[in-house]
Amino acid sequence: MTVRELGHDIYWIGAIDWNRRLFDSLIPLPEGTSYNAYFVKGSEKSALIDTVDPSKEFEFVCNLIKLGVEKVDYIIINHAEQDHSGSLPMASELFPEARIVVSEKCKDLVVSLLEIAPERCLVVKDHDTISLGDRTLEFFMAPWVHWPETMLTYLREDKILFSCDLFGSHIATSTLVVHDVAEMYHPAKRYYAEIMMPFRMQIRDHMKKIADLKIEMIAPSHGPLYQPPDPILALYRDWISDTVKNEVVIPYASMHGSTEKMVLHLAGALIDRGIAVKPFDLTKTDLGELAAALVDSATIVIGTPTLLFGPHPLVANAAFITNLIRPKAKYATVIGSYGWGGKTVEAVKGMLNHLSAEIIDPVYVKGAPDSACLRELEALAERIAAKHREAGLLNDSPPLLP
Ligand code: FEO
Repeated sequence: MTVRELGHDIYWIGAIDWNRRLFDSLIPLPEGTSYNAYFVKGSEKSALIDTVDPSKEFEFVCNLIKLGVEKVDYIIINHAEQDHSGSLPMASELFPEARIVVSEKCKDLVVSLLEIAPERCLVVKDHDTISLGDRTLEFFMAPWVHWPETMLTYLREDKILFSCDLFGSHIATSTLVVHDVAEMYHPAKRYYAEIMMPFRMQIRDHMKKIADLKIEMIAPSHGPLYQPPDPILALYRDWISDTVKNEVVIPYASMHGSTEKMVLHLAGALIDRGIAVKPFDLTKTDLGELAAALVDSATIVIGTPTLLFGPHPLVANAAFITNLIRPKAKYATVIGSYGWGGKTVEAVKGMLNHLSAEIIDPVYVKGAPDSACLRELEALAERIAAKHREAGLLNDSPPLLP
């Protein structure tokens, strides 16, 4: 347990989960995570901002005791997902006089998920404020980062934005405040990819909404805080933009080596044309790494053999997740081999129906890749290069060897 002071009478009272390795029974957490909760004391009233995962409830209570918190007037719940709200039932019993401050939708969720009495809730709307005396909390509705009820809380006088999951990262670290965003580039990007990327259009709107706020510190609900905030805001502006890189991501599986041979040949042909490649063998891949690679790649090539009548299940899973997280790739295609038939290409294309990517003609062959297949793959590499050139991602003079 630990309490960290962010400023006069502003404290981090969350929990670091060093050993958690899976979130939502889906997202790998190779570096653990943290559940950030905060306590703010004003001259007249005090507020808790979020709670922690129920597995860390004991640490949370210890932090409150360590800090000597005897009275809480408001419990702000920016997000109803249980890793932040799961200790709310305990906190609401511990501080029975506290009003639970929520968005309208969040009220519905804390009542249904956590059995919070509706009369305890104080519903706030966009730009509503609560005075703590010499401090003011202002609320910004920010639905779909990444649930429909999410909101941001701005501590006006101290210029701190408590951003809920937005701008977070899954990492267990003793670093509370990051001053050099480069340290957090990869964890922050991976987290964005896994959780925020499907909602990049909504995040654009939210970032416009907070653009005029004077923010000195961003305090998300996972991972370190950012001071100054501009570098993480700049990264997000890039990730949510329509800009893509001259890069091809190739998630694939291969049963007897044919599809892998095709993937490696295509990868070499793309490199020859000046295009960066990121192949991912799905029998070995951490899906979070694949998600991070998908954030800004221009093209996705799915490599799969036909297993009985359709794609390999590892590929189907990766395609399903890709479709869920909706990368901004401009082009996609399929390569692989089959033994006796099936509808693999059509099945994979159908699994990518949420992407706005243009589908480039696939290369799907019977049996082991022969020299004709390898030439087809080189032609595919050329088609991809032409698309990248058209999109201004690749120079007109590719560095092809004679
Ligand atoms: Fe970190 Fe959506 O909860």
